[in-house]
Amino acid sequence: MASFVATGMTEYTIEFVGTGETITCEETETILSRCLEEGIAQEYSCRVGMCLACSAEILDGEVTQPAARGLTDAEAERFALTCMARPQSDLKLDRGVYPPSIDAEHTAVSADD
Ligand code: FES
Repeated sequence: MASFVATGMTEYTIEFVGTGETITCEETETILSRCLEEGIAQEYSCRVGMCLACSAEILDGEVTQPAARGLTDAEAERFALTCMARPQSDLKLDRGVYPPSIDAEHTAVSADD
């Protein structure tokens, strides 16, 4: 029978502004995986930090996301790729807000048409 042992890991609270959704997330878990466990309809696609579909704007708090390769350094200060980001503090996030480079990519594709 499975038992859960206190691991001493730090658990943070994540509030999604505008939706009333609040979850807890350990420092070792990705925000996206916790959203999926909690039934929160966070969008995602690649799950490897490239497509930006899982983006959320960071309104308050800190994340670590060294594998968020789809973000520029400047964007990584303001946006979390939830498939890669792990909390470093309690967070306030705005789900479904995308960094500017997602538009740049879209524009580049359209220009080729
Ligand atoms: S799902 Fe593609 S960057 Fe997160």
